[in-house]
Amino acid sequence: MMRLDKFLAKMGAGSRQEVKSYIRKGMVSVNGETVSRPETKIDEEKDEIFLQGKRIAYAAFEYYMLNKPAGVISATEDKKETTVVDLIREKKRKDLFPVGRLDKDTEGLLLITNDGVLAHRLLSPNHHVDKTYFVRVHGRVTEEEEKSFLAGVNIGTGDEEEWTRPARLEILKSGEESEVRLTIQEGKYHQIKRMFQAVGMEVLYLKRLSMGKLTLDPGLKPGEYRLLTEKELCDVTDENAGRH
Ligand code: URA
Repeated sequence: MMRLDKFLAKMGAGSRQEVKSYIRKGMVSVNGETVSRPETKIDEEKDEIFLQGKRIAYAAFEYYMLNKPAGVISATEDKKETTVVDLIREKKRKDLFPVGRLDKDTEGLLLITNDGVLAHRLLSPNHHVDKTYFVRVHGRVTEEEEKSFLAGVNIGTGDEEEWTRPARLEILKSGEESEVRLTIQEGKYHQIKRMFQAVGMEVLYLKRLSMGKLTLDPGLKPGEYRLLTEKELCDVTDENAGRH
């Protein structure tokens, strides 16, 4: 049970003040009856709530797969910049957040949800969930880098050492500019850029392809998103998803 105004605000129908005013104006019905008191208690699981004839269905959790475009930041809100959550226009929930961060210039798979337990499981350093990226770099990537990354590289600055866990590098194209697929088990700040920096190369383009068992839908263009399918949700909530 919860207050009607709280329910409507949580489902993204408006701010708390706005939904209170909708209710007072008689724009909201509960099980076919118009109600005018914002504090009316409703059963969010069973009651049928309509706002101006439109059904406001309850969603406890929402899960979106976004192909993050370059130029937006991995945050929930920002005064100046567009955030990944701003891109999800049909959201019901107001408490969505991105699971982990991609740099502003990085593209690719980002899960947007309000499920904190799942987020913790995917991000916890103890769980070592695999994250695979497509990377274009300036420089010739060879077996040497493959071995270095597998052994772990020091991405620390100055005197402070910071070693990465073993990462798998698959060379797709080697030349003045090279293309690789790189799988890391952590999510340290600017990790992939710093790993290539550690071997004297610069990342030109970075795109996340997968996270645990969740793979970016190739049909999603940068900036596009969709709900996770039941199967994807089962896979991603599976305790052992991508673990070592
Ligand atoms: N590594 C980076 O350097 N940037 C990202 O956005 C993700 C991984």
